[in-house]
Amino acid sequence: MSEQILFKVTVDNITIEVPAGTTILQAARQIGGAVAPPAMCYYSKLEGTGGKCRTCLVEVSKGSEKDPRPMPKLVASCRTTVMDGMEVKNITSEKVIDARAGVVEFLLLNHPLDCPICDQAGECHLQDLSFEHGKADTRYEFQRRTFKKHDLGKHIQLHMTRCILCYRCVFIADQLTNKREHGILDRGDHAEIATHIEKSLGNEFIGNIIDVCPVGALTDKTFRFKNRVWFLKPMDAHRHCPTCSGRVTLWNRGDEVFRVTARKDEWGEVEDNADGKPGWICNTCRFDKKHTNDWIIEGPRAISRQSVIAQGHYAGNVGMTQPTEIFKAVNDGRAPHLLMDIHNESEVNLPSVRLSEIEGPSHGTSFNNNSKNA
Ligand code: SF4
Ligand code: FES
Repeated sequence: MSEQILFKVTVDNITIEVPAGTTILQAARQIGGAVAPPAMCYYSKLEGTGGKCRTCLVEVSKGSEKDPRPMPKLVASCRTTVMDGMEVKNITSEKVIDARAGVVEFLLLNHPLDCPICDQAGECHLQDLSFEHGKADTRYEFQRRTFKKHDLGKHIQLHMTRCILCYRCVFIADQLTNKREHGILDRGDHAEIATHIEKSLGNEFIGNIIDVCPVGALTDKTFRFKNRVWFLKPMDAHRHCPTCSGRVTLWNRGDEVFRVTARKDEWGEVEDNADGKPGWICNTCRFDKKHTNDWIIEGPRAISRQSVIAQGHYAGNVGMTQPTEIFKAVNDGRAPHLLMDIHNESEVNLPSVRLSEIEGPSHGTSFNNNSKNA
């Protein structure tokens, strides 16, 4: 058996050995933490992704042991393979930080700042990216893009204005489903995700486009406007599904299942199953199994991404400190008692109304005639 060739690569002054053919991004992910460049279009579980968004740009200050000249321009780390002796700068490079701020500014040129009403808020990679690398204002003075609405069927909502054209959903439809019915039409400023003659996407695995979309361009209609992700408790669960592995994360509030997603790793990508294959889930598990008794609950899921979900997460979080419990601190360490039941005072969020079971988005009228919805 031929021996695997290993290359030494240094990223932000940390050296590791990786097999030849590894990309800089994958090598940096092996080191982990902030050394790993952000990636909005690359998705390791999908072939051909990467090279589109430029968020993963890094500086190669030494090409290799044999040819130590630096690379003249910043390179996309998701598409550049390591060489033996290569030295790379990510967060230690001023050029990279400056370029990344520019990339964020470009990505936000047409992206609406509608986080307060976007279902992706709290788990949006663009939100995290602009928080870490963005600037407070934009220099863009023109009208943002507008689009004709497209209907992607009863389960998936497309908000084209939020799309950053990463192509992940196109790759997943190509590689996971047996018939792709959507793609990117036109070029440049006119480019958009579209289906010809408004066809719905009926494939049993098409729901996975929601999980790979890094922004709120593709969201789950069964969850839309029902809750904020940071109010939900993620639980690992499984069921014996004849179509997929049935390994999911349930997003619960109380005993209501608001949303079902695939299990995601620290890079926001779908986790592999025990057989080493990506744990994509089927539409039945995702959209139709919304009762806790449909599932065998395994336990709370720790969210490792540095996101607002992790902030209030009851299972703890890697590298984050839980906020101080103010009430306890000012109450001599005693836990609060229930002071009043808001439902005695207000018609809002009546416990008899199960938001997760309301068809379509919930709004004020969901609480009128609540006996119908209960
Ligand atoms: S809809 Fe989402 S996944 Fe598809 S190209 Fe746009 S941003 Fe990427
Ligand atoms: S992640 Fe590398 S170019 Fe988008």
